[in-house]
Amino acid sequence: MEPDRELMSDTRRILITAALPYANAPIHLGHLSGAYLPADIYARFQRLRGRDVLFICGSDEHGVAITLAADKEKVTPQAIVDRYHAMNREAFAAFGMSFDNYSRTSIPLHHATAVEFLLEFNRRGILKEKKEKQLYDEKAAMFLPDRYVEGTCPVCGNPDARGDQCERCGTFLDPMQLLNPRSKITGDTPVVRETTHLYFPLGAYQKRLEEYVTRSDEADGWKENVLQYCRGWFREGLEDRAVTRDLTWGVKIPLPGYETKVIYVWFDAVLGYISATKEWALMKGRPDAWKEYWLGSDTKYVAFIGKDNVVFHTIVFPAMLMAWNDGGGDQYVLPANVPANEFLNFKGQKFSKSRGWGIDVQDFLAKYPVDPLRYTLATGLPEYRDADFTWRDFQAKNNNELADILGNFVNRTLQFASRTFGNAVPAAGPPGELDTGIRALMDRTPGAAAALFERYRFRDGLMEVMNLARGANKYFNDSEPWKTAKSDPARCATTINVSIQLARSLAILMSPVIPGSCEKIWQMLGLPGEAAHASWESARTGALEAGHRLGTAGILFTKIEESMIESDGAVPPAPPAEPAAEKITIDEFRKADLRVGKILRCEPVAKSEKLLKLQVEIGTEERQIIAGIARHYRPEDLVGRLVVVVANLRPATIMKEESHGMVLAASAPDGTLVLVSPVSEIPSGATVK
Ligand code: MF3
Ligand code: ZN
Repeated sequence: MEPDRELMSDTRRILITAALPYANAPIHLGHLSGAYLPADIYARFQRLRGRDVLFICGSDEHGVAITLAADKEKVTPQAIVDRYHAMNREAFAAFGMSFDNYSRTSIPLHHATAVEFLLEFNRRGILKEKKEKQLYDEKAAMFLPDRYVEGTCPVCGNPDARGDQCERCGTFLDPMQLLNPRSKITGDTPVVRETTHLYFPLGAYQKRLEEYVTRSDEADGWKENVLQYCRGWFREGLEDRAVTRDLTWGVKIPLPGYETKVIYVWFDAVLGYISATKEWALMKGRPDAWKEYWLGSDTKYVAFIGKDNVVFHTIVFPAMLMAWNDGGGDQYVLPANVPANEFLNFKGQKFSKSRGWGIDVQDFLAKYPVDPLRYTLATGLPEYRDADFTWRDFQAKNNNELADILGNFVNRTLQFASRTFGNAVPAAGPPGELDTGIRALMDRTPGAAAALFERYRFRDGLMEVMNLARGANKYFNDSEPWKTAKSDPARCATTINVSIQLARSLAILMSPVIPGSCEKIWQMLGLPGEAAHASWESARTGALEAGHRLGTAGILFTKIEESMIESDGAVPPAPPAEPAAEKITIDEFRKADLRVGKILRCEPVAKSEKLLKLQVEIGTEERQIIAGIARHYRPEDLVGRLVVVVANLRPATIMKEESHGMVLAASAPDGTLVLVSPVSEIPSGATVK
């Protein structure tokens, strides 16, 4: 439902957590767009709004996910978590995550925190001890967790069903239901043995949890997908949950009879948010500072996760905190919101590390800069339904939006200021209609985008900001400063003044999404400090005084060439190709003299929307060629490019211009036209055969 904004408007302190990823595999783009990028945009945005933000994450290092990975590689669990903790911490840093602390659950401080909760609950008689029957591997001398058992599915007969679920028919299973169960460790048939565990009585909290979800939704507008999951769980009815496991890897339990058991991973992992905050406070030299966030009644706590973690953050963790708070001592804040995203797919399938499917972050960032990735993911966040990542989209977002709109606008503005106004902000004269229009948009955009970001609608918020960039670019075009520079210098000065103010506003408003590029813009504008430390509100108005000295313009975004991206594989079926032409002999083909040419200069042809006039170097010769590619390429992007030229075509006159040859281009049925170019450097004049 619609949240009451007034209620939240004086929130000063915001605690933000992002799900602790298992340290058993590299994180991939699916993780980033599910939880981490939205969390980071939100954290950066709230810092710009002047809120006291603490942003916490870390590695989840316990549980069967880790021990299975260790077994598979025949190394210790410790070796696995050490490797992937370091790897993921670096990947997050490379992705620009602005965590205040990236901790890990294997540290003693975390073990102590988890034990503190377990013992407190046990002391207060909240936990129940129950005996249950479970599968036991006699050779390995251990009880088998769900995923350590395989067998025949009782529903569909799949001989390789997993202990927790049959992947063929989708049925959720208990390992005891499997026919012909076998241990994944030894391959032996397990026996049934009795074991004792501690249970947390989730059902006892159901009514309060339902109230909590309703109240929080009323106050802060929960996402519909998250509410749906909660309602589903409530409808089924909450049951007791075991919080201990027969495992050796995990948080040890200092209770008699529990020497060979550990705390269930989910019970300890969610408490990792608290221990990671305690670790942050220690590193800051203010050991009690964690309490300001977790125990402060004026804290707004927002937990970002992917959809598969919903139940643990809207039900299990809040119930644990309620149980703790019932003791009357420290009172923890519960999540005010749990904005979970759906999944990101790749070639029609969900990204999955266990199935080795997807794109890993470090690999990606070794090839491409980070901001185009952040931007592409942000414009396609799976906020309401699953979304797809495609290379084509990545290239288009980078080339057509970041480079052509934002980068182009900032560069044109700064180049103009440098050439015409001695690289300082010119004084603005009385505003004309165009100036007033764009200033109104600039005044409106921070508020409009903020209202959306506050409601976790990052795609739409970014769209508002990008509309300002689009508007700015159009404003520059329509104002034609290159003309008014001579005809009306005061007008020209106003245009450039306003454009510089717009560039500054865009640097602030875009910085939650593309922080690195925005710091570059900030420096190019000769501004002190960082865009990240500016105030969101200040983006509404022009803050740069006339006479302010600008910095040096530089490249913001580089175009991604066709040859640099991978194919998206499952492309839609190609429309039937045009029927092949009549067959020719090799000698007839050789009549065409095909050469590599290099475009030296390029300009539009007067009165033509389609034609460009190219000066092309072919070996030692220079020729003029007229090409019908103006709708597909901008002149300045073609200079220096290698093309293939039909060098022995009869000269022709097209729109009063002479043309001595033809450049080759591929054309698709939908009208797309792409120049044919050698994929690597080769001297012009080289023959093509
Ligand atoms: N490790 C879990 C996963 O990757 C997420 C844990 S979130 C936490 O799905 F809060 F419990 F840590
Ligand atoms: Zn099945």
